[in-house]
Amino acid sequence: MVQSIEFDLIICGSGLAGLRAAIEAAKKNSKIKIGIVSKVQVMRSHSVSAEGGTAAVLFEDEGDTIESHIYDTVKGSDFLADQDVAKRLCEEMPKEIRQLDHWGMPWSRREDGRVDQRNFGGYSFPRATYASDKVGFFEMQTLYDTCQKFENIEYLNEWFATSIVHDGNKFMGLTAIEISSGNFYQIKGKALIIATGGAGRIYSFSTYALSSTPDGLDMAYRAGMALKDMEFVQFHPTGILPSGILITEGARGEGGHLLNNKGERFMKKYAAEKMELAPRDIVSRAIMTEINEGNGFKHETGVDCMKLDLRHIGDEKIKEKLGGIREISIKFSGVDPADEVLDIRPVCHYMMGGIHTDIDGATELQGVWAAGEAACNSVHGSNRLGANSTSECIVWGKITGSLAVDYIEKNSHSDPWPNYLVTLEEKRIYDGIFRGNGDANPYEIAKQLTETMNDKAYVYRNEKNLVEGLKTIRQLKEQTWKHVDDSAKEYNTNFTNVMELDSMIRTAEIVLIGAINRKESRGAHARTDYPKRDDANFLHHTLAYYDPKEPIMKTHPVTITNYQPVERKY
Ligand code: FUM
Repeated sequence: MVQSIEFDLIICGSGLAGLRAAIEAAKKNSKIKIGIVSKVQVMRSHSVSAEGGTAAVLFEDEGDTIESHIYDTVKGSDFLADQDVAKRLCEEMPKEIRQLDHWGMPWSRREDGRVDQRNFGGYSFPRATYASDKVGFFEMQTLYDTCQKFENIEYLNEWFATSIVHDGNKFMGLTAIEISSGNFYQIKGKALIIATGGAGRIYSFSTYALSSTPDGLDMAYRAGMALKDMEFVQFHPTGILPSGILITEGARGEGGHLLNNKGERFMKKYAAEKMELAPRDIVSRAIMTEINEGNGFKHETGVDCMKLDLRHIGDEKIKEKLGGIREISIKFSGVDPADEVLDIRPVCHYMMGGIHTDIDGATELQGVWAAGEAACNSVHGSNRLGANSTSECIVWGKITGSLAVDYIEKNSHSDPWPNYLVTLEEKRIYDGIFRGNGDANPYEIAKQLTETMNDKAYVYRNEKNLVEGLKTIRQLKEQTWKHVDDSAKEYNTNFTNVMELDSMIRTAEIVLIGAINRKESRGAHARTDYPKRDDANFLHHTLAYYDPKEPIMKTHPVTITNYQPVERKY
């Protein structure tokens, strides 16, 4: 039996973007009913694991400028960022740092009491605002605390949203499963903000929480919204072995060195000026080039790696500024970075792509916005600079929260609720998945999918590997994995895992098709068979629209305002 609840504004996802949106909406109109629908408990959202910083211009008195932040972002993006969107990010961020400070964020401070900033890759000025190396955790706690002030925010923790209900033009609601009871709900609403984060669990070596699967993206895709620029996957240079947990770029910002097996700081060959603080795409390629040329190391698990040396930073500074990664290194790798070098290699960390939105976060469906990593408003183009992600979440959380309220105030629709769509969705997930049959083990399929993405669409790509990768994903898609062996109603994680796999397969296919079609190298998309950026043919975004057979691919123009593309040098 379908149960029914109703909100004015539904926010799907409870990370930084979702919570910032909820606060803005609740502040703007205390009468609207806001429901945050989240697959996990709020403080388990992947945003809590952001480590190193949030980018903003704070020290104009010391020479930093908004213009410089904009240009760094555009250059970092390999000129695929929409430049008006980058401008919006950089102009809004200083206010947001102060707003968080006002709400109680424990920013790290200078001796004189001012909020401090550290170096991060690709910036012309130390611009990463930080709280030791637990930035995401403290930001989330600050926002969640602030949310408690508002009585019109409700939390639907551990609810799995399965589809968007709409009339072809306009948003009407969601369908979702309350994981604890297993009950199926229709959630009626006037506006939706999708803030479900990234999809980096389609890779086996990943910094993402296990919950970071593309169900939010896929829900939008199936509802007719385009996914944009999905071929651009960011590999962070320093995933620690063997787990892949993030070792923050802040470690290099505080002075850490990358070493090859000759004991050289090899980055001097690839980015003589910025060295270890070149943008991530460049550092990750440098690491892989060194490994491919025989200058790497073998981790005890047999995996190729490089070394990250933090020893010279000193015990005291490591404890104060890098305490989180010290604990991670000791607990998960048995290495104390104050005494020993760390084994690292590039790891899937961020997706530049996501749900296609305009500069305001509005999607192609009326009444639906997307914010944070789930969105692709094109602020990062083909390569995001570190510390610009938490910034993006906060800025577009605020913008979309505010715009959704304006929309709700102007649109009091009372259109008939399309029961037949809910019935169709019930059939899709209960008949098609929960009561499905088959021999293939969905967990084995997920393992093969994530390993294929790692092998075939990693830092360096080429036609042969990408085509093989796509073939494998399509073969996996055809296997009989759509079944749930656990018949329990309550807390059936087997059921949610298979639904996650369903979204992973469609998303992986889009990443690979986009990567095959983009016959150039730009930002994080490095093709050994097309090693040059090709502005004449590929200075455009990629769009993928849903079709049951395979995605329909289109292109979309890049907004260029002040900066014509030039070769990136660091
Ligand atoms: O390295 C880091 O701390 C990651 C930051 C980011 O992805 O923005």
